[in-house]
Amino acid sequence: MNFNDKNYKLSVQLDKIHLRNPTMLASGILGISQSIFERLYDENIGAVVTKSISVNPMKGYPNPTIIPLGGGSYLNAVGLSNPGVAAFSKELSENRNIPIMISLVGSSEKEFSKMVKVFDSLKIIGYEINLSCPHVSKMGMELGDDPEAVNKIVRAVRINTNKPISVKVGVGSIDVVELARVAIEAGANIITAINTLRAMSIDIETMMPVLSNLIGGLSGNAIKPIGIRCVYEISKKLQVPVIGCGGVSSWQDVIEYMIAGASAVQIGSILGSSGLKIFTHITKDLKKYVEKKGLRNISELIGIAHKYQ
Ligand SMILES: Cc1cc2nc3c(=O)[nH]c(=O)nc-3n(C[C@H](O)[C@H](O)[C@H](O)COP(=O)(O)O)c2cc1C
Repeated sequence: MNFNDKNYKLSVQLDKIHLRNPTMLASGILGISQSIFERLYDENIGAVVTKSISVNPMKGYPNPTIIPLGGGSYLNAVGLSNPGVAAFSKELSENRNIPIMISLVGSSEKEFSKMVKVFDSLKIIGYEINLSCPHVSKMGMELGDDPEAVNKIVRAVRINTNKPISVKVGVGSIDVVELARVAIEAGANIITAINTLRAMSIDIETMMPVLSNLIGGLSGNAIKPIGIRCVYEISKKLQVPVIGCGGVSSWQDVIEYMIAGASAVQIGSILGSSGLKIFTHITKDLKKYVEKKGLRNISELIGIAHKYQ
């Protein structure tokens, strides 16, 4: 590695994946077209995670599905709407140089195997398995709360690919470190923490729940300290690269996640108000911070907080 290379300062390693900088798009945010991924890459993003894809297309829930709560926090229950494996593999077939991780969602290990068999010949950097969506039945967190299901699903993906697998965990009924441990023992290489948190909001004029699905997931500013705590605990106790996610809206948040133990950081809800340029701004400011602190590479920050008991 050439420490004098100006691109070296922000580059990070996630298992076998080398990223030019630690910023990533969180799953389910923005569109799922190759053209938007290319625009993000032009704005200096490190890597893109797609919307969670299922075997068959899913329609999702009726509106309203996304509610701003103020203070940079959101409540959503989109319902994992996506075009399904066949249409999405066509969409990505032209991909050559964008570092794309495909997010997978399903209700059985068979469904996960089927998807990986189709996707694995595409030019992608790996998979993120969504075992943490908190508001769709028989998928996401319902499986993430069952260690046996986690074990079966991760093994099913592992035997069908040599590419890195990240398991996306959330705050369910199982301790997040235990969930991550089961995933790693089953063959996951990376852990992404965290997804949205199961939440609800009620309109006092209509006296009705605001989401059509009643229950949704809380994201944005309000969940950042929970994300930081999960990243800290997982990365301190387990030997695994962790991708931090939850409430990131600035370069300072990226640094905070890395000091907690994240090797890379995903950005989601803030894109609803910031526009894509946020990635260019954040990467520029990360570089300034690294230089100001006299670091050779931003990875030197990973897990500095672990020394505090
Ligand atoms: C509208 C919306 C849709 C989402 N869809 C997905 C999804 O398909 N798969 C998934 O794993 N996470 C999904 N998420 C969760 C985000 O990827 C992320 O984990 C969460 O929003 C926390 O990050 P943030 O606070 O930066 O938004 C979604 C979040 C939002 C707000």
